[in-house]
Amino acid sequence: MGINLGDEFPNFKASTSSGDIKFHDWLGGSWAILFSHPADYTPVCTTELGRVGHLVPEFQKRGVKLIALSCDGVESHKGWIEDIKAVSDLKEFPYPIIADEKRELAVQFGMVDPDEKDAAGLPLTCRAVFIIGPDKKLKLSFLYPATTGRNFDEILRVVDSLQLTATKKVATPADWKQGEKCMVVPTVKAEDIPKLFPKGVEIKPVPSGKEYLRLTPQP
Ligand code: BEZ
Repeated sequence: MGINLGDEFPNFKASTSSGDIKFHDWLGGSWAILFSHPADYTPVCTTELGRVGHLVPEFQKRGVKLIALSCDGVESHKGWIEDIKAVSDLKEFPYPIIADEKRELAVQFGMVDPDEKDAAGLPLTCRAVFIIGPDKKLKLSFLYPATTGRNFDEILRVVDSLQLTATKKVATPADWKQGEKCMVVPTVKAEDIPKLFPKGVEIKPVPSGKEYLRLTPQP
Protein backbone atom coordinates (compact mmCIF):
# COMPACT_ATOMS: atom_id res chain seq x y z
CA MET A 1 0.00 0.00 0.00
CA GLY A 2 1.03 3.62 -0.30
CA ILE A 3 -0.31 7.15 -0.45
CA ASN A 4 -0.51 9.16 -3.64
CA LEU A 5 0.02 12.88 -4.05
CA GLY A 6 -3.31 14.61 -3.47
CA ASP A 7 -4.66 11.87 -1.15
CA GLU A 8 -5.80 12.89 2.30
CA PHE A 9 -3.17 11.61 4.72
CA PRO A 10 -4.72 8.87 6.91
CA ASN A 11 -5.99 9.88 10.35
CA PHE A 12 -3.99 7.18 12.14
CA LYS A 13 -3.61 6.76 15.90
CA ALA A 14 -0.13 6.28 17.33
CA SER A 15 1.96 6.35 20.48
CA THR A 16 4.85 8.78 20.35
CA SER A 17 7.73 9.88 22.55
CA SER A 18 5.49 12.82 23.59
CA GLY A 19 2.24 10.87 24.20
CA ASP A 20 -0.55 9.38 22.10
CA ILE A 21 -1.83 11.22 19.03
CA LYS A 22 -4.60 11.10 16.48
CA PHE A 23 -2.87 12.43 13.39
CA HIS A 24 -5.45 14.93 12.13
CA ASP A 25 -5.83 16.43 15.60
CA TRP A 26 -2.05 16.73 15.87
CA LEU A 27 -1.91 18.38 12.40
CA GLY A 28 -4.53 21.01 13.16
CA GLY A 29 -4.54 23.23 10.09
CA SER A 30 -0.78 23.28 9.73
CA TRP A 31 1.73 22.19 7.13
CA ALA A 32 3.57 19.14 8.45
CA ILE A 33 6.41 16.77 7.64
CA LEU A 34 6.36 13.12 8.69
CA PHE A 35 9.76 11.51 8.18
CA SER A 36 10.61 7.90 8.93
CA HIS A 37 13.68 6.10 10.21
CA PRO A 38 14.72 2.45 10.05
CA ALA A 39 15.46 1.96 13.74
CA ASP A 40 16.52 3.57 17.01
CA TYR A 41 20.18 3.66 18.04
CA THR A 42 21.46 3.67 14.45
CA PRO A 43 24.16 6.06 13.27
CA VAL A 44 22.68 7.76 10.19
CA CYS A 45 19.29 8.24 11.90
CA THR A 46 20.99 9.82 14.88
CA THR A 47 22.63 12.45 12.66
CA GLU A 48 19.34 13.13 10.86
CA LEU A 49 17.25 13.62 13.99
CA GLY A 50 19.90 15.92 15.47
CA ARG A 51 20.04 17.99 12.28
CA VAL A 52 16.25 18.37 12.22
CA GLY A 53 16.38 19.39 15.89
CA HIS A 54 18.62 22.32 14.93
CA LEU A 55 16.42 23.21 11.93
CA VAL A 56 13.18 23.43 13.95
CA PRO A 57 13.24 27.28 13.95
CA GLU A 58 13.47 27.25 10.13
CA PHE A 59 10.46 24.93 9.89
CA GLN A 60 8.57 27.02 12.46
CA LYS A 61 9.17 30.16 10.36
CA ARG A 62 7.39 28.35 7.53
CA GLY A 63 4.55 27.13 9.78
CA VAL A 64 5.59 23.47 9.42
CA LYS A 65 5.16 20.92 12.22
CA LEU A 66 7.54 17.97 12.41
CA ILE A 67 7.04 14.36 13.44
CA ALA A 68 9.45 11.44 13.04
CA LEU A 69 8.70 7.70 13.01
CA SER A 70 10.92 4.76 13.86
CA CYS A 71 10.23 1.03 14.16
CA ASP A 72 10.83 0.78 17.89
CA GLY A 73 8.79 1.45 21.02
CA VAL A 74 8.27 4.60 23.06
CA GLU A 75 10.70 3.63 25.86
CA SER A 76 13.42 2.91 23.29
CA HIS A 77 12.72 6.29 21.61
CA LYS A 78 13.03 8.09 24.95
CA GLY A 79 16.40 6.49 25.67
CA TRP A 80 17.68 7.21 22.16
CA ILE A 81 16.54 10.85 22.39
CA GLU A 82 19.03 11.33 25.25
CA ASP A 83 21.84 10.13 22.95
CA ILE A 84 20.66 12.39 20.12
CA LYS A 85 20.55 15.41 22.44
CA ALA A 86 24.04 14.66 23.74
CA VAL A 87 25.75 14.13 20.38
CA SER A 88 23.87 16.93 18.58
CA ASP A 89 24.21 19.44 21.39
CA LEU A 90 20.47 19.93 21.79
CA LYS A 91 19.06 21.02 25.17
CA GLU A 92 15.54 19.86 24.33
CA PHE A 93 14.27 17.42 21.76
CA PRO A 94 11.64 19.52 19.98
CA TYR A 95 9.37 17.09 18.08
CA PRO A 96 7.72 13.68 18.69
CA ILE A 97 8.88 10.30 17.37
CA ILE A 98 6.10 7.85 16.49
CA ALA A 99 6.55 4.26 17.74
CA ASP A 100 5.82 1.74 14.95
CA GLU A 101 7.13 -1.48 16.50
CA LYS A 102 4.71 -3.67 14.52
CA ARG A 103 5.44 -1.87 11.21
CA GLU A 104 1.71 -1.23 10.77
CA LEU A 105 2.25 2.36 9.63
CA ALA A 106 5.34 1.41 7.61
CA VAL A 107 3.24 -1.05 5.60
CA GLN A 108 0.20 1.27 5.35
CA PHE A 109 2.32 4.14 4.00
CA GLY A 110 4.45 1.97 1.67
CA MET A 111 7.76 2.70 3.36
CA VAL A 112 9.32 -0.70 4.01
CA ASP A 113 12.95 -1.15 2.92
CA PRO A 114 13.16 -4.78 1.73
CA ASP A 115 16.97 -4.79 1.92
CA GLU A 116 17.28 -3.86 5.60
CA LYS A 117 16.14 -6.13 8.42
CA ASP A 118 16.41 -6.02 12.20
CA ALA A 119 18.01 -8.72 14.37
CA ALA A 120 14.75 -10.71 14.32
CA GLY A 121 14.61 -10.60 10.50
CA LEU A 122 11.78 -8.03 10.41
CA PRO A 123 12.05 -5.44 7.61
CA LEU A 124 12.91 -1.88 8.63
CA THR A 125 11.36 1.31 7.33
CA CYS A 126 13.19 3.26 4.66
CA ARG A 127 13.79 7.00 4.96
CA ALA A 128 10.46 8.38 3.76
CA VAL A 129 9.47 12.05 3.73
CA PHE A 130 5.81 13.05 3.51
CA ILE A 131 4.94 16.74 3.30
CA ILE A 132 1.31 17.37 4.16
CA GLY A 133 -0.57 20.61 3.45
CA PRO A 134 -3.02 22.52 5.66
CA ASP A 135 -5.81 20.67 3.79
CA LYS A 136 -4.33 17.38 5.17
CA LYS A 137 -3.46 16.24 1.64
CA LEU A 138 -0.11 14.79 0.62
CA LYS A 139 1.87 17.42 -1.33
CA LEU A 140 5.23 15.67 -1.72
CA SER A 141 6.80 12.33 -0.88
CA PHE A 142 10.13 10.66 -1.41
CA LEU A 143 11.77 7.43 -0.33
CA TYR A 144 15.47 6.94 0.34
CA PRO A 145 16.97 3.60 1.30
CA ALA A 146 18.02 3.10 4.91
CA THR A 147 21.68 3.58 4.04
CA THR A 148 21.42 7.13 2.54
CA GLY A 149 20.88 10.05 4.93
CA ARG A 150 18.60 12.83 3.67
CA ASN A 151 19.53 16.41 2.76
CA PHE A 152 17.40 18.61 5.01
CA ASP A 153 18.40 21.80 3.17
CA GLU A 154 16.60 20.25 0.19
CA ILE A 155 13.56 19.57 2.35
CA LEU A 156 13.42 23.24 3.38
CA ARG A 157 13.84 24.22 -0.28
CA VAL A 158 10.89 22.07 -1.38
CA VAL A 159 8.72 23.46 1.44
CA ASP A 160 9.46 26.94 0.08
CA SER A 161 8.54 25.80 -3.42
CA LEU A 162 5.32 24.08 -2.29
CA GLN A 163 4.22 27.12 -0.29
CA LEU A 164 4.90 29.47 -3.23
CA THR A 165 2.81 27.28 -5.51
CA ALA A 166 0.01 27.05 -2.95
CA THR A 167 -0.30 30.80 -2.53
CA LYS A 168 1.23 32.58 -5.57
CA LYS A 169 0.55 30.47 -8.71
CA VAL A 170 4.23 29.96 -9.47
CA ALA A 171 6.36 26.85 -9.96
CA THR A 172 10.10 26.69 -9.30
CA PRO A 173 12.60 25.64 -12.00
CA ALA A 174 15.52 23.23 -11.79
CA ASP A 175 17.89 23.94 -8.89
CA TRP A 176 15.80 26.96 -7.82
CA LYS A 177 16.84 28.63 -4.61
CA GLN A 178 15.08 31.13 -2.35
CA GLY A 179 15.01 34.59 -4.06
CA GLU A 180 15.55 33.33 -7.62
CA LYS A 181 13.14 33.68 -10.54
CA CYS A 182 10.03 31.48 -10.58
CA MET A 183 7.80 30.33 -13.42
CA VAL A 184 4.15 31.17 -13.89
CA VAL A 185 2.14 27.93 -13.68
CA PRO A 186 0.68 26.79 -17.03
CA THR A 187 -2.95 27.15 -15.85
CA VAL A 188 -2.64 30.97 -15.57
CA LYS A 189 -4.17 32.64 -18.66
CA ALA A 190 -2.16 35.36 -20.47
CA GLU A 191 -4.87 37.95 -19.79
CA ASP A 192 -4.61 37.38 -16.01
CA ILE A 193 -0.84 37.90 -15.85
CA PRO A 194 -0.73 41.72 -15.30
CA LYS A 195 -3.11 41.47 -12.34
CA LEU A 196 -1.46 38.40 -10.77
CA PHE A 197 2.21 39.30 -11.36
CA PRO A 198 2.74 43.03 -10.81
CA LYS A 199 6.54 42.53 -10.77
CA GLY A 200 6.33 41.56 -14.45
CA VAL A 201 6.69 38.42 -16.52
CA GLU A 202 9.37 37.71 -19.13
CA ILE A 203 8.43 35.27 -21.87
CA LYS A 204 11.41 33.33 -23.25
CA PRO A 205 11.18 32.92 -27.03
CA VAL A 206 11.46 29.31 -28.23
CA PRO A 207 11.55 27.75 -31.74
CA SER A 208 8.01 26.39 -31.37
CA GLY A 209 6.69 29.93 -30.86
CA LYS A 210 4.72 28.69 -27.84
CA GLU A 211 4.69 31.08 -24.90
CA TYR A 212 5.15 28.65 -22.02
CA LEU A 213 8.46 29.74 -20.48
CA ARG A 214 7.10 32.58 -18.36
CA LEU A 215 9.60 33.83 -15.79
CA THR A 216 8.74 36.18 -12.95
CA PRO A 217 10.64 37.47 -9.91
CA GLN A 218 9.86 35.43 -6.79
CA PRO A 219 6.56 36.85 -5.50
C1 BEZ B 1 21.57 4.01 10.11
O1 BEZ B 1 20.73 4.79 10.55
O2 BEZ B 1 22.76 4.23 10.23
C2 BEZ B 1 21.15 2.76 9.40
C3 BEZ B 1 19.97 2.12 9.76
C4 BEZ B 1 19.60 0.96 9.10
C5 BEZ B 1 20.41 0.44 8.10
C6 BEZ B 1 21.55 1.10 7.73
C7 BEZ B 1 21.94 2.27 8.39
